[in-house]
Amino acid sequence: MKQDNRINTGNPLRVIFFAGKGGVGKSSIAGATGILSAESGNRTLIMSMDIAHSLSDIFDVKKDGIVDFNRGAPFQVADNLWIQELDISEEIEKNWGEIYRYISTLFNATGLDEVLAEELAILPGMEEVSLLLYLNRYSKDKRFDVIVLDCAPTGESIRFISIPTTLEWYIKKVFRIEKTIARYARPIAKRVYDIELPGDKYFDTIEFLFQRLRGVDELLTDTDITSVRLVTNPEKIVLKETQRAFMYFNLFRMNVDAIIVNRIIPPSIKDRYFNDWRITQKEQLKSAEECFSPVPLFQVDLMKNEVLGYKNLRQLGKKIYRDKNPLDVFFKGTPYELRKENGIYCMSINLPFVKKGELNLNRVHDELIVRVGGTKRHFLLPRHLAGIDSITARFEGEKLCIYFGGGQNDKE
Ligand SMILES: Nc1ncnc2c1ncn2[C@@H]1O[C@H](COP(=O)(O)OP(=O)(O)OP(=O)(O)O)[C@@H](O)[C@H]1O
Ligand SMILES: [Mg+2]
Repeated sequence: MKQDNRINTGNPLRVIFFAGKGGVGKSSIAGATGILSAESGNRTLIMSMDIAHSLSDIFDVKKDGIVDFNRGAPFQVADNLWIQELDISEEIEKNWGEIYRYISTLFNATGLDEVLAEELAILPGMEEVSLLLYLNRYSKDKRFDVIVLDCAPTGESIRFISIPTTLEWYIKKVFRIEKTIARYARPIAKRVYDIELPGDKYFDTIEFLFQRLRGVDELLTDTDITSVRLVTNPEKIVLKETQRAFMYFNLFRMNVDAIIVNRIIPPSIKDRYFNDWRITQKEQLKSAEECFSPVPLFQVDLMKNEVLGYKNLRQLGKKIYRDKNPLDVFFKGTPYELRKENGIYCMSINLPFVKKGELNLNRVHDELIVRVGGTKRHFLLPRHLAGIDSITARFEGEKLCIYFGGGQNDKE
């Protein structure tokens, strides 16, 4: 096996996220994709964003080998293929030192037991930011051609994509004010309270972190580099969560280039026991088309057994992509966009070749159903739009613009 992979091949970086509800098959599919990528000659890293890491199990590598000996660093599992599972305590040492120390002292000073204070000071988001730091670093040092990200179950990965925007806002709007206040208020606060205000080192650490994150938002939203693949199962509840993830990735302008519908009962299974399952799956597959069109769906059969080890993962990869190159960008574009104009939200949907008369809009709870001739598309609405009753719509070129709010604005 090659040990040094720091040669710059000049290939552009490709980043693929696999996100979805818990247990749908994200890690297996990320592993399978990584294998095909490495076999086609790309130096490939599969990174796990989930605290409940399972890459080492899937690749059948002894756990100690990764966490203890490699301390969360990339670990080679085959030619051109590495896996990396972050070790949060290592990351805290490397990235969060002063911030972590300040927060745990703060918790401890408020009466919490020291061990508990240290545990609680691992704030939500620290792991995600650590991962973004790696991603940014790897994109600059060109150590890998392809980075495959095995995301945590949906809720957490959505928090992850909001981090670059939130940090930017925090640094611009809050950070500078806080820093100044802390400098002046520190001597007074010391006399009045038992709790220390953060020192300069704390702010320096935040600033340094921010500098190292610069550019990562551009990397995430560059459609030539980064794609998100949503993994789902043909089941109602799972699909609903996939729709939600689809909406959020869209809103954060990350390009979803494929939906992978995993665990479909193969047609060769004739057992009557599965009859109802087959009907449900067929209905849900149709519903998936209505929800995610024009993003392509990839259908994957339920395999005979758990997908463990290189050989089985490779086989899964072939079942997913067949003759396609897994590194291609399968779809580019935003199926819909959301903006706010004079207090009114406007959702615009690309609907080329549609005439007004063919269109029918309907809202059922938090879903907007757009019927065009014989086809139907479902759009899950962000929470703050779902409660607005007044909806009007009009065509602007090939776009259907749907306005939420401002009832007096008659745009129909
Ligand atoms: N197509 C398939 N056929 C049979 N088993 C599958 C298939 N896809 C995944 N599995 C199995 O389902 C289980 C869950 O898969 P996996 O760990 O990849 O899901 P996950 O989405 O990463 O889960 P988590 O959210 O817990 O991280 C594993 O045992 C895996 O081997
Ligand atoms: Mg997983």
